[in-house]
Amino acid sequence: MGIVVLTMKASVIEMFLVFLVTGIHSNKEITKKIKRPKFAVPQINCDVKAGKIINPEFMVQCPAGCQDPKYHVYGTDVYASYSSVCGAAVHSGVLDNSGGKILVRKVAGQSGYKGSYSNGVQSLSLPRWRESFIVSEGKPKKGVTYPAALTYSSSKSPAAKAGETTKAYQKPSVPETATMPVTLTQVPTTTAAKATHTFLPKASPSAASTTGSPRPQPIFHRSQELEETDSWKLGLVPLDVGFVPKEELSTQPLQPVSQGDPSCKVDLSFVIDGSSSIGKRRFRIQKQFLVDVAQALDIGPAGPLMGVVQYGDNPAIQFNLKTHMNSRDVKAAIEKMTPRGGLSNVGRALSFVTKNFFSKANGNRGGAPNVAVVMVDGWPTDKVEEASRLARESGINIFFITIEGAIEKEKQYVIEPNFANKAVCRTNGFYSLNVQSWFSLHKTLQPLVKRVCDSDRLACSKTCFNSADIGFVIDGSSSVGTSNFRTVLQFVANLSKEFEISDTDTRIGAVQYTYEQRLEFGFDQYSSKPDILNAIKRVGYWSGGTSTGAAINYALEQLFKKSKPNKRKLMVLITDGRSYDDVRIPAMAAHQKGVITYAIGIAWAAQDELEVIATHPARDHSFFVDEFDHLYRFVPRVIQNICTEFNSRPRN
Ligand SMILES: *[C@@H]1O[C@H](CO)[C@@H](O)[C@H](O)[C@H]1NC(C)=O
Repeated sequence: MGIVVLTMKASVIEMFLVFLVTGIHSNKEITKKIKRPKFAVPQINCDVKAGKIINPEFMVQCPAGCQDPKYHVYGTDVYASYSSVCGAAVHSGVLDNSGGKILVRKVAGQSGYKGSYSNGVQSLSLPRWRESFIVSEGKPKKGVTYPAALTYSSSKSPAAKAGETTKAYQKPSVPETATMPVTLTQVPTTTAAKATHTFLPKASPSAASTTGSPRPQPIFHRSQELEETDSWKLGLVPLDVGFVPKEELSTQPLQPVSQGDPSCKVDLSFVIDGSSSIGKRRFRIQKQFLVDVAQALDIGPAGPLMGVVQYGDNPAIQFNLKTHMNSRDVKAAIEKMTPRGGLSNVGRALSFVTKNFFSKANGNRGGAPNVAVVMVDGWPTDKVEEASRLARESGINIFFITIEGAIEKEKQYVIEPNFANKAVCRTNGFYSLNVQSWFSLHKTLQPLVKRVCDSDRLACSKTCFNSADIGFVIDGSSSVGTSNFRTVLQFVANLSKEFEISDTDTRIGAVQYTYEQRLEFGFDQYSSKPDILNAIKRVGYWSGGTSTGAAINYALEQLFKKSKPNKRKLMVLITDGRSYDDVRIPAMAAHQKGVITYAIGIAWAAQDELEVIATHPARDHSFFVDEFDHLYRFVPRVIQNICTEFNSRPRN
């Protein structure tokens, strides 16, 4: 200490300059610091987890005995910050069981920490964690200032106490001296005064910023990140919840499996290229793309579900919609896939998907749009147009991603030029994405995910069964009679059964009329088939006159006015006699409003009137049945006409 004082006297002029900067009162403070024998690296116990320490990069002194299995470690090389810092250091070989100094650097959280046995420590696997760290030998890097005291995320933890011995350093009286002690302790005490001299100007704000200078980028080990092992299973998720704060516990790592993004409820089939021409490398890029899509989609039972069909000569289902119900499991399954080889029979693959993939047994939910994303490397070796049309007509929305398509001189080999545009339902580019190179495939990720989830625009999934608002207009006049009225209701129910019924698919409404009219139920009242069938059954026979014209007007007002803009509006009017009022004007109003009107007349119904009511051409939209008992025969005919008309409408 005498030396210090002497040295200070010797350099009194220099010190004076320093005091001008820092203020006289800090003299004492500086002296006190200089008195510190040596920089002490903060000490921690074996059980301190990296996540408890807030500092992004720090040096610590580990005690002996951290090899003990009770100090859990998660990961290999890159450790989840839920791990014991010192345990991880032993595992990585930076430290042995006798303890010592180590350097710790925080890096980004990741998924798939892989456990391994190394240096006497068994580390565990962890599906994901929000923060990681890496450890290296306790040699300070040049130009990096390490904290002399660690900042803990919770002061209550015993770990914090371990750091208290060095707390004294953390009470600098000069505001910007947070980094001072460290610099100070890096020089021998004998030259302390000199150090003070060189050190103080450094404590200026500009010097402080050097501690915040960019650090080397986190090191990521892809191989481990991409593999899944059995040890991922929940059993290995830490049960020792030690110092983990409550909010951490609730989310990590016993993170509940995602239910999926509810704003993107689609049943998705990736139809991927496994043909010989694709090669291993491009196949791998394709797999990575699928993994990225799966992650971006957030797969789950309440959101999107995803299956994969791989094609070559022949297609095969790799996994279906319900095999893996979260992004992580889907990712693991994708990573296990190997190319099938053979030709690029895309058309065959699409037929296969239409027939086999979207079945209930494969997890098709019915209420979610069916989407097939077809990946094509180059061009297909068979025809796809017809297969695509059939797929679309069965309700599948087809997206094509063509990668490295035929260049000019290769075009002669392409069987079906412009196949992608012919395969999709619209040629406006929404459904087909063309990528010049496999290396730019990732750029289609966001556009694809956005489009696949845009259920309002998935118009290709519209079929005659799922795209209409159907309003039944039922004659309840006295001439019908109770028993025949039941038959009419059965007919209405039998027709309704054929459709896919939900809020977003086909909706059914019903009006009963005599002289008067009443709304039995509107389009938005029931959204499932059983509910609709029940509601039809419950319709009570009214009995009265027959004002068909007024009934049409009423249906337009009470039912079709509330139809959704993108729905086809179908009116099915059932009557057993001539109307008391004029039907011509109400019928014209219906046709003008785009309501496609089917007229079904029984027994005493007037054919000419049916033809006026029906949409043109009347022979496709009007039916005459001589007896109520024969009504059932017309169910398939009416359905067929509805579908024929639907399919004959232009798609664009
Ligand atoms: C409705 O369907 C049932 C069962 O298939 C059949 O027995 C009945 O005759 C049908 N009735 C009408 C009117 O379509």
